[in-house]
Amino acid sequence: MRISVLGIGYVGAVSCGCLAASGHEIVGVDIAPEKVAMLARGRSPIVEDEIDRLIADGVGSGRLRATTSIADAVANTEVSFISVGTPSGPDGSVSLRAVDEVAASIGRELRGKPGAHTVVMRSTVPPGTAEGRVIPMLEQFSGKRHGEGFRYLSNPEFLREGSSVRDFHAPPYTLIGAAPGDDGAVLREIYAGVGGAVHVAPYRVAEAVKYLANAYHAVKLAFANEGGAILASLGVDARAAFRLFCEDRVLNVSPAYLTPGFAFGGSCLPKDIRSLLALADRANVAAPFLGQVLPSNHAIIERTFEAVAARGRQTVALFGLAFKPGTDDLRESPFVILAERLLGRGYDLRIFDRSVEVARLTGSNRAYIEREIPHLERLLCPEPAAALEGAGLVILGHVGPADRPALLQALDGHAVLDLAGIAEVRDHPGIRYQGLCW
Ligand SMILES: NC(=O)c1ccc[n+]([C@@H]2O[C@H](COP(=O)([O-])OP(=O)(O)OC[C@H]3O[C@@H](n4cnc5c(N)ncnc54)[C@H](O)[C@@H]3O)[C@@H](O)[C@H]2O)c1
Repeated sequence: MRISVLGIGYVGAVSCGCLAASGHEIVGVDIAPEKVAMLARGRSPIVEDEIDRLIADGVGSGRLRATTSIADAVANTEVSFISVGTPSGPDGSVSLRAVDEVAASIGRELRGKPGAHTVVMRSTVPPGTAEGRVIPMLEQFSGKRHGEGFRYLSNPEFLREGSSVRDFHAPPYTLIGAAPGDDGAVLREIYAGVGGAVHVAPYRVAEAVKYLANAYHAVKLAFANEGGAILASLGVDARAAFRLFCEDRVLNVSPAYLTPGFAFGGSCLPKDIRSLLALADRANVAAPFLGQVLPSNHAIIERTFEAVAARGRQTVALFGLAFKPGTDDLRESPFVILAERLLGRGYDLRIFDRSVEVARLTGSNRAYIEREIPHLERLLCPEPAAALEGAGLVILGHVGPADRPALLQALDGHAVLDLAGIAEVRDHPGIRYQGLCW
């Protein structure tokens, strides 16, 4: 396929070399004449393992050339990859100046270009950029409509400098952000020789995944470095501890605990984070990263309280009181904190939690309930329907599968704030549904 690559920095140069090696005809474009001159001479504008040979071979074989002219590049290719820089602006927000310039230029060139053209965003851009910014600009400058005169795909880049040529050929997966009904066939064809799964998602999701990935990598590094410093101050071999920590692929290095939802709690996580912070403090090791975990968790409870308060005063039915489903453990439960916050602000509250109800009846957790939350015990209802009686707003913290039919049957015109993401409730007719973050 004939592909123009706009922006031949780290990402663009690797795309040029690797796509040419895959047999495509590539035109590299940049506003920096020295980079264009280097590429045109068969030399790499960046330092990267294996890239010199790929670019020399590409130019030598005639499959790779370079120009400063976007007009030339767009006119003579079917696909344009955008890989210009998106640096931080002075206030920390991303600068999309180069993206805007390139989108306007491509749009202008598309105006007079016959035939189909696909624009592919490889630069890292915030969620919403495709629909809110680049597609409208392409439409405005080309005078054509998206899906008719041109097609736009988002294709975030996951390569790492230092191993980017290897990463290009073995990505974790290929992610394509596309309009509804578009399966990204153009990119599937371009990457036919590249390994790994292909995922197609709405533009916003694809754009967001790149930010999530980089944020998570930074979080992992901060966790490892700060955690390592605390362990070292305690005389622990931090690398040995982290090696063993990573051996647990069930809970530690896994998708566990990576589903967005409500706050955590329980008898272990808050207590053990506090203990680790106290140890760090005693050893004079700064731990600002771990120090923000509990405040971050509390902010979720506060955000939920604000969402309830925004709906005005009404009787609230809270489903879920223990810190998670399937247990009667109420210690440091975020639902207890939320319930107390609501009571403190004068809300009428009814609560349903099957496990806590069983514990109350059998007496297994009675001492704790009577000592710590007698004010909440009085509000417990034995069945979902009883909790819903007279309630205007339902907060769905958690409710087990066995109680869902009774809940669905009793829901009738209620407003539901779903903290758990229960699909059958979301799809239930006759309620006003709001998800926490979906
Ligand atoms: N560097 C990485 O490892 C990496 C990995 C994944 C994603 N990304 C993302 O990819 C994008 C590019 O990153 P990079 O590191 O290659 O940037 P870079 O700064 O190395 O290269 C960007 C290039 O775009 C050129 N450019 C700017 N305006 C232009 C215009 N109007 N027309 C043509 N060319 C123009 C610049 O001259 C430069 O050569 C960024 O959004 C970045 O966040 C980078």
